[in-house]
Amino acid sequence: MPELSRRAFFGAVAGAAALAAPRTARAADSHIEILLNEPLGTVAPELYGHFTEHIGAVVYDGIWVGENSKIPNTGGIRQALVDGLKKIQAPVIRWPGGCFADSYDWRDGIGPRDKRPRRTNFWVDAMRSAPDGPQKYDPNQFGTTEFVRFCRLAGAQPYFAANVRSLTPLDLDHWMEYCNAPAGMTTYSDMRAAAGDRDPYNIRYWGVGNESWGCGGDMTPEEYATEFRKFTSWIPGYGVDLRYIASGPNGGDLNWTHGFFRKLIENGKGQLHKVYGWAMHYYCGSAGKGALDFDTNAWYELLAKADAMEGLISRTWNAMGEIDNEHRVKLFVDEWGAWHPSGTEIDPTHLFGQASSLRDALVAALTLDTFNRHADKLAMCNVAQLVNNLHSLFIAHEDRFVTTANYHVFEMYAAHHGGRSLRTLFSAPRAARNLWGLAGSASLKGKTLTVTVVNPHATELREASLAIRGASIENSSATVLTAPDMHAHNTFSNPRAVETSPGGSLAGDVFRFQPKSVTRLTISLA
Ligand code: AHR
Repeated sequence: MPELSRRAFFGAVAGAAALAAPRTARAADSHIEILLNEPLGTVAPELYGHFTEHIGAVVYDGIWVGENSKIPNTGGIRQALVDGLKKIQAPVIRWPGGCFADSYDWRDGIGPRDKRPRRTNFWVDAMRSAPDGPQKYDPNQFGTTEFVRFCRLAGAQPYFAANVRSLTPLDLDHWMEYCNAPAGMTTYSDMRAAAGDRDPYNIRYWGVGNESWGCGGDMTPEEYATEFRKFTSWIPGYGVDLRYIASGPNGGDLNWTHGFFRKLIENGKGQLHKVYGWAMHYYCGSAGKGALDFDTNAWYELLAKADAMEGLISRTWNAMGEIDNEHRVKLFVDEWGAWHPSGTEIDPTHLFGQASSLRDALVAALTLDTFNRHADKLAMCNVAQLVNNLHSLFIAHEDRFVTTANYHVFEMYAAHHGGRSLRTLFSAPRAARNLWGLAGSASLKGKTLTVTVVNPHATELREASLAIRGASIENSSATVLTAPDMHAHNTFSNPRAVETSPGGSLAGDVFRFQPKSVTRLTISLA
C-alpha cells in the first residue's frame, strides 16, 4: 500500500466501508477512530420514527383494543404499546398508510364512534384466508382523534399521509381545518371540539400521497409533481409551520427524483420551498427461505442488502441537489425494513406479520447507524411497521404482547437522539465477501459519547482498539444485544430470547465485540 496520511487512509473507508486491518501491528485485529472535531450534523430524534397503517393487525389488535376491552388500555389504546413507545422515546408516528392512505376518507374516522361507517379495507384482496373482521372491513373506530391521542400518550408527533389518488386538494384543506383551526372558527373545528379536543392539534407533518409511482396512483413523476403543487398551494396554515412531504422514490429510482424536481420547478425554483421532505422507501427484502428459515450465507446476504441504504441515501441526495442546489429539501426514509415471505405471522388476520429474529435486529442497527452518519441530509425515517407487521418492534394478539429484537435496538439507540453525529472510521477484517467487518456510528451529547457498533460475523469475535481524537476516556460501559442462535426471536412463550445485557467496559482502549451482535458503548470523556 502506498504511503497515505492517516486521514486519507481512514477517509477511504469512512462509514460502512471496510478494509483489511491497518498495517501497524496491534493485538487488536480491528480499529475504530472517532473524530470529535468532525461533526456530521445533529441526529434528529425523528430519524427514529415509526409507521402505522390500517393493514392487517397493526391498528385493530395492535393499537386499538377498544375502551370496553379487558386488555389494559387508555381510551381504547393498548397500554403496553404506549408504555413501550415511551421507553424508546418514540419521536413521531406516520399514519394512516402506506397504500391505505390513498383509499382513505378521513371523514369516515371522525364523530361519534357508533355512527362511523364500515368500509372495505384497501388490503382486503390480500387477506382472503383471514376471517371477516375489522382488518378486512374497517369500522373506523380508530380515526384522526384516536390517532392524535395515541401519539400524545406515546409522546410522539403525528405525521399524516393525505390521500392524493382518490380525494381532492379540498379534502386535504378540510382535514387540516378539522385538525388545526381554532375551535369556534369553522364547522370542522367545532366537530373536533365536540369530540373532546378544543385545542387545535397543530399537525405539522403532512405527507402528500404515498408511493404515487405505484399504489398511490401509478403516476409519472411529472404527473405527481403537478398534483403535489395543486395539493400544497394556498392552504390556510392556521399559524402552524406546515411541513409537506412529497412521495419520493422506490429505493434508488433516480428517474423519479429527477422527473419530480424538474417538473416541480418548471415555473421557477420558488416551488422548492413547498417541499420540506422527499420521502424514499426502501425495503431490503429477504434472504433465504423466510424470516426464520435462513443459513449463514443468507444471514450475510440480508445484512448486505440492508447496507445498500448507505448508497441509496447518497445517490438520492446528490440527485436532489442537481436542482435543489442549496439542499433546502431534506431527505426522508419514511418506510424501511426487512420484508420476509409470509409464514411466521401469528394469526391469519396479521397480514405481513413476521417474526423478527436477531438477524432483523442487526438490520435495524446497521440502518440506524447509517441514518446517524447521514444526519446532515435526513430529517425523518420511519421503520415499517410498528406492531404486528413487517420489521415490527412489538407483536400483540388479544391480551398477549411481546417486544421484538428490533425493539431492543431502538431502546439502545435512543441515546443518539439529539446528539452530534461524529465521523467515525472503522477498519476490520471483512465478515463476508460482500460485507464489512465492523460498522457503526458515534454521537456526542455534552461529555457523553455514544458509540454503536455492529459485528455481523456469525462466529468471530472482533477485538478493536478505539481512538478518540480530541479527548480522553474517563470511564465507559457497554450494552450488548446478541443471542446464542442467529435465528433467536422473541415470542409470547419465550419473550426474552433476544434481549440486551451489560457488556462490561473498555479494557484500556480495547473492546471485544461479540459475534453477531449490536453493542452500545457509553463513554464519559474527561
Ligand atoms: O408497509 C407495507 C406497504 O409497503 C405500504 O402500504 C406501502 O407504502 C409499501 O409498498
